[in-house]
Amino acid sequence: MKSFLEIMAQRQSFPKLCDPAPDKKTMNKIFHASLRAPDHMHLRPWRFLNIEGVSREKLGDLFAKHASSSNPNNTLELEKSASKKALRAPLVIVGIVCYQENERVPRWEQMVAATGVMHNISLGVFASGFGSVWRTGAFSSSEIVKSGLNIRENEDITGFLYVGSRPETSRRPKALNASDYFSEWDG
Ligand SMILES: Cc1cc2nc3c(=O)[nH]c(=O)nc-3n(C[C@H](O)[C@H](O)[C@H](O)COP(=O)(O)O)c2cc1C
Repeated sequence: MKSFLEIMAQRQSFPKLCDPAPDKKTMNKIFHASLRAPDHMHLRPWRFLNIEGVSREKLGDLFAKHASSSNPNNTLELEKSASKKALRAPLVIVGIVCYQENERVPRWEQMVAATGVMHNISLGVFASGFGSVWRTGAFSSSEIVKSGLNIRENEDITGFLYVGSRPETSRRPKALNASDYFSEWDG
């Protein structure tokens, strides 16, 4: 069995994903564990929407609406290609940061806490033998998409985590040298 550190070192994104997604029991275990992300003052400034099955088509409709509103010369093709993006994986998790007014915890810290949970989910999915890719792009800041998903005034989308089974072949991640990024500081 691989160690936790080996799994972390091998984690990678999978831009192409297939059916099926992990079952509900597995996903619930992953969600439960992911919520242990560090969180200044325990504000829990996050929530998530799970979109699967035919509901992904409704998300696709929002993507298509965004595409047509931001392209004056929009063609049906653009709309079609935008809506298909919601079907890239059997499960799409929308990460949302819910900002709270707090003197000691600025918004950026709340964003970091919410994205920490998102990363934990991707790590948990990987550790469970499945794959994911975190995407933002124009859709995550689109007012059309945000309003369709009922994102409130004090909230932002941190990204869409596409989750599914790994394809048969995929590139291997490039290992980075720790010494390129970590150095000793002794005053
Ligand atoms: C906040 C965030 C937003 C991202 N948005 C996109 C995106 O919109 N499109 C994309 O292709 N990759 C996006 N990525 C990068 C991929 O999720 C992935 O990390 C990258 O392709 C590198 O692959 P790796 O994780 O296997 O190293 C994003 C990553 C993060 C953390």
